[in-house]
Amino acid sequence: MQLNEEIQRRRTFAIISHPDAGKTTLTEKLLLYSGAIDRAGSVKGREGAGHAQSDWMEIEQERGISVTSAAMQFEYQDHVINLLDTPGHQDFSEDTYRALTAADSVVMLLDCAKGVEEQTKKLFRVARERALPIFTFVNKLDRPGREPVELIDEVEELFGLHAVPMTWPIGSGTDFKGVYVRATGQIQVFERTKAGRKARVAGEGGLDDPEIKALLTPAELQQLRDDVELMDHVLPPFDLEEFLAGRQSPLFFGSALNNFGVAEFLEEFLAMAPAPHSRPLKDGGEVAVDAPFTAFVFKVQANMNKAHRDRVAFARIVSGRFERGMDALHVRGAKSIKLNYPHMFFGRDRVIVDEAFPGDILGLINPGMFRIGDVLSAAGPLEFHAVPRFSPEQFVSVRLADPGARKGFLKGVQQIAEEGVVQVFWPRGGAPLPILGAVGRLQFDVLQHRLKTEYACPVIMEPRGFQMARWLQGGWPEPSRFWGELVEDSEGNPAILFENDWQRRTTQEKNPDLTFLDHPQ
Ligand code: G4P
Repeated sequence: MQLNEEIQRRRTFAIISHPDAGKTTLTEKLLLYSGAIDRAGSVKGREGAGHAQSDWMEIEQERGISVTSAAMQFEYQDHVINLLDTPGHQDFSEDTYRALTAADSVVMLLDCAKGVEEQTKKLFRVARERALPIFTFVNKLDRPGREPVELIDEVEELFGLHAVPMTWPIGSGTDFKGVYVRATGQIQVFERTKAGRKARVAGEGGLDDPEIKALLTPAELQQLRDDVELMDHVLPPFDLEEFLAGRQSPLFFGSALNNFGVAEFLEEFLAMAPAPHSRPLKDGGEVAVDAPFTAFVFKVQANMNKAHRDRVAFARIVSGRFERGMDALHVRGAKSIKLNYPHMFFGRDRVIVDEAFPGDILGLINPGMFRIGDVLSAAGPLEFHAVPRFSPEQFVSVRLADPGARKGFLKGVQQIAEEGVVQVFWPRGGAPLPILGAVGRLQFDVLQHRLKTEYACPVIMEPRGFQMARWLQGGWPEPSRFWGELVEDSEGNPAILFENDWQRRTTQEKNPDLTFLDHPQ
């Protein structure tokens, strides 16, 4: 197949949602339609014998949350779909944030009873700021939920995003009858169907069709007519351009658990979601998708396979055809490397790939070489915009259980920090051990667990009272009067850790020439 055909049939996306909204269930149903798995429960149940286990999974199982973030590839109707998995727990939202830099579109999954939940607002906002096209799927329609209009208002109020219904629910909870499809004027009837099937469609003749009159009570039909009237007259019509610009979000209703609305959503998704496209460069210009091979690392994860103790760098291909064994420039290291054993992942199973295309995610195994943001290029040295970081909100000091293990600790912490698990800050006046920062507490638990199991370096952590890190634009000069602690990050960028916003504001007032950034430059 030609390069351009391969690109056009690819869709690379992430699902973001609050834990429990149904992301695992939806993912599983999507995979069932694709034929990539053949039984329900396969996504959650892959930890059976024979599958690679990791330390991450121990934590995952202990806490019952998803810590890992892998990419899965599957095919449906001639399309190749790359689904970037994203941890639902807010403590790992930075991982999700980075996954979004590799996505071309996003599915915002909401629980119909809950709408947009507090913990995930930040992520939705990131998707919004990156102007990613966002689909909205409202799940659990088989249960009582909030009024659709309320959900539409909420999405608009919070994100300035116009949600435009493509389908519309008829009833909810035990009275849920199905959804009205605006494009066809027909109804997808809610019935218990087998996995992999589509819903029955009723009402070829529109709302006056006798089939519909038999299906709905007169009150339900009247309500639906009113709703349709409202949608057609009050809400803006769906506009593909507006969607692609990240200003409108097509809205779908369904029930992942009941397999309802999923196949229909998948087909609409494939038709509307953008294929991989050119990516801007840091110093202006852009890389076209059909340029020679380029890719960037958006995630580094250790110990995908305990037997090998390896580190996998996940790289999103931006342009060109990838072929196994090809040479590419590792731009930061200014060194040409041979890409011999790239993997693609299906859940936790891995296969070696011979060929891959823009939008695909390669798992590169190469100890210590890759950091988040690294670029691989067969098109000469170039830099994409940095993969952004969240400012840490939690800080700890560490003590070593064995004071002689300092060297091992520093190596471990540096490697784990390069994977983006924590951020390292060195107090300005010199200190034997750094202060560590993270977005969520669980990141420290991961660090502590991994230092112990991978680096044989148990540590004791002591919470510090800081709440934020602010980097100083343009570096030093050091402020004459400040509140908080002057530090340098692992790259030597100066920053101040503040205990509260009062400290930040006061330091700013006393040093009007300083500009604070909430991420390194
Ligand atoms: P998550 O990955 O976003 O955290 O959510 P997950 O899919 O695990 O779903 C959370 C719970 O919601 C699960 O129930 C799941 O069965 C249920 N669920 C998902 N989709 C629907 C739906 O359309 N309707 C209804 N009624 N429930 C839905 P659980 O009891 O917590 O777990 P499980 O024992 O069923 O796995």
